[in-house]
Amino acid sequence: MTAFFTLRWHAPDAVELLDQRLLPRREHYLHLRSAGEVADAIRTLAVRGAPAIGCAAAYGIAVEAVRCRHLDASGFASALQAAFGVLAASRPTAVNLFWALARMRAVHEALAGSPPIHAASKLLEEAHAILAADVAANEAMGRHGAALVPDGATILTHCNAGALATAGHGTALGVIRSAVAAGKKVRVFADETRPVLQGARLTAWELSRDGIDVTLLPDGAAGHLMATQKVDLVVVGADRIAANGDVANKIGTYQVAVMARRHGVPFYVAAPLSTFDFSVADGRAIPIEQRDPSEVTGYGAERWAPDGIGVFNPAFDVTPADLVSAIITEAGVVHRPDTQTLARLRADAATA
Ligand code: MRU
Repeated sequence: MTAFFTLRWHAPDAVELLDQRLLPRREHYLHLRSAGEVADAIRTLAVRGAPAIGCAAAYGIAVEAVRCRHLDASGFASALQAAFGVLAASRPTAVNLFWALARMRAVHEALAGSPPIHAASKLLEEAHAILAADVAANEAMGRHGAALVPDGATILTHCNAGALATAGHGTALGVIRSAVAAGKKVRVFADETRPVLQGARLTAWELSRDGIDVTLLPDGAAGHLMATQKVDLVVVGADRIAANGDVANKIGTYQVAVMARRHGVPFYVAAPLSTFDFSVADGRAIPIEQRDPSEVTGYGAERWAPDGIGVFNPAFDVTPADLVSAIITEAGVVHRPDTQTLARLRADAATA
């Protein structure tokens, strides 16, 4: 059981979230009281991970609605309009952000004409529902995914797709947590995940807090690990999955998938349905965030690269569907994902 939380509502008027920029050295919770503050927290990675970004964006709308609930109808509408804009511009790749904003917008539009105080309470209810559904989806994914984990498994993961990246439990790390809860022994190898070090700072922290055996490795050692030791499976999360099963995830995921194929290791992706974007046919249409060069030329105040050096710093890459053994969702496991198998998943989920 994790003794921290990623984000929650702090009544009467704030979003409370764990500042992930400070982990693992400091556990400090931020209290954010406007959509602009929430957008800044998303942009600067105080909160990160696709499902957590979606939940934060939902609360970003709710907190703005609460803050503006005493304005007249037109002041309230323009404040909310600006809030949707600033949150949508915070980060481009994780589709959960846009999925959550679309849900919040539908509630907002359905309430047009009702008193702002009433709209604010309905928007807050919707944000709570998004958060609760995310925890339930992660637990369901965990149950489905745990069946793919053999007892005694050695597992490789990349980035942080854990409780910290979601409203709780995690996607890839949720599968691992559920396998452990089912009595399986596992050993986890966590890529450090250059340049922002989500593996070293976050995955290592949250798994060791749960007493799960975790070993950190430099990203460049993943191929050597698979070549020299028995790795039973790779499991990672996703930021956006195209209609054909191409998976955008943290930079470095693609090379892990290539190495896994080379060494015959199953490569699993755990992601909720809110991470699928059926409007993009394949991974080429997924927008890839480019981040600041300073993330690569040093860390924090420390600089190690020559001043003025050119930098290529994409935050995500796309793993082609044919390298993905299966996608684990809350609605079940899709083996060998492609346009047909995912269309079936979508249709089944719509009628469930
Ligand atoms: O830049 P980040 O830290 O937001 O990137 C996070 C990832 O790439 C995760 O693997 C992904 O969001 C899945 S989280 C369940």
